[in-house]
Amino acid sequence: MFPIDQIVHYTYKYIAKPFLFRRDPEDVHDTALTLGKTLGKSVLVKSFFRVCFGHQDDSLRQTVCGITFQNPIGLAAGFDKNADILDILPTIGFGYAEVGSVTGGACVGNAKPRLWRIPEEKSLRVYYGLKNDGAEAISARLKGKTFTFPVGVSIAKTNSPATVETEQGIADYMKAAEAFRDIGDYITINTSCPNAFGGEAFSDPARLELLLKAYRELKIHKPTFLKLAADLTHEQLDQIIELSNTYNIDGFICTNLKKEAGEKGGLSGKSVASLSDDMIANIYKKVGKKKVIIGCGGIFSGEDAYRKIRKGATLVQLITGMIYEGPQLISEINRDLVRLLKQDGYTHISEVIGINTL
Ligand SMILES: Cc1cc2nc3c(=O)[nH]c(=O)nc-3n(C[C@H](O)[C@H](O)[C@H](O)COP(=O)(O)O)c2cc1C
Repeated sequence: MFPIDQIVHYTYKYIAKPFLFRRDPEDVHDTALTLGKTLGKSVLVKSFFRVCFGHQDDSLRQTVCGITFQNPIGLAAGFDKNADILDILPTIGFGYAEVGSVTGGACVGNAKPRLWRIPEEKSLRVYYGLKNDGAEAISARLKGKTFTFPVGVSIAKTNSPATVETEQGIADYMKAAEAFRDIGDYITINTSCPNAFGGEAFSDPARLELLLKAYRELKIHKPTFLKLAADLTHEQLDQIIELSNTYNIDGFICTNLKKEAGEKGGLSGKSVASLSDDMIANIYKKVGKKKVIIGCGGIFSGEDAYRKIRKGATLVQLITGMIYEGPQLISEINRDLVRLLKQDGYTHISEVIGINTL
């Protein structure tokens, strides 16, 4: 049978995308969220999508830090900032999703325009500035809800001059962490948003240590990952790995957006792919399987995801690939991963993690 994701692939490429890419990127993002939220309320639509896109295979299922992931493909932080579309995401094939980044206070983000497409680089320039409804409102929305796949919560500090000082910044992170103590399966501490007041203050190991100390004092017993900046030096990376051992951090998301000197915002997609690949390999060389590496940056195909996994990633995440290739991409990647594993003579995804790095 001609799989339905192939039909959606060509419809997106030749009809939907040329139309959508003529509209303002943030308007399209908002429309996608409204559509996803509406469709997520329909049992019929969700069942239909599951049949079409919910491709499952034992070879992709893994239990990581006690959480079972049906497949390794997640939605990265920043697309579903306010946790609006968690009902529809698993039905189009996602194995998990990360909401946020959620901050201690609500924030309208930076002035518009703040999202641009760069089609020749298959990238986006992102300058949202941590727009979100805030920890209180988002956690209230999710309280008592059951999810059909693992949900991570990315926390950051409110984009405001009031959180620039280290102490206030940490207090803001802790407010967000506390609000999600009993909600979601894991927490990601986003240390690396390039688009907020005070910059990436917590990429600095000395400040990061204060943040991790305060976080551990909350005694939140959930798998916790650090989202890393794309341009860390080897020395910074070594220090961060050391801190991750001291403060029992389970792993790293590699990476956030790529910064460019003198430019607003950061770049996603193909522009950050090789920085992400290199960091995955670097960390894997240092820590092997003692920490979980989540690969993020420029995944547009099954081959891209497979490459990151072979470099050392246990899970991967994406946003930009889905915007350029269409919502069926997740299902296509899952199918391709199964095919690539078989083609190379493997029976399970865990067998290939890091084999290109060691
Ligand atoms: C529109 C948009 C908003 C983003 N917002 C966040 C955010 O709030 N928090 C975060 O940790 N990363 C954010 N990111 C970065 C992504 O999570 C990811 O690290 C980066 O885009 C690379 O992945 P990709 O190439 O698959 O998009 C955002 C990215 C995009 C495209």
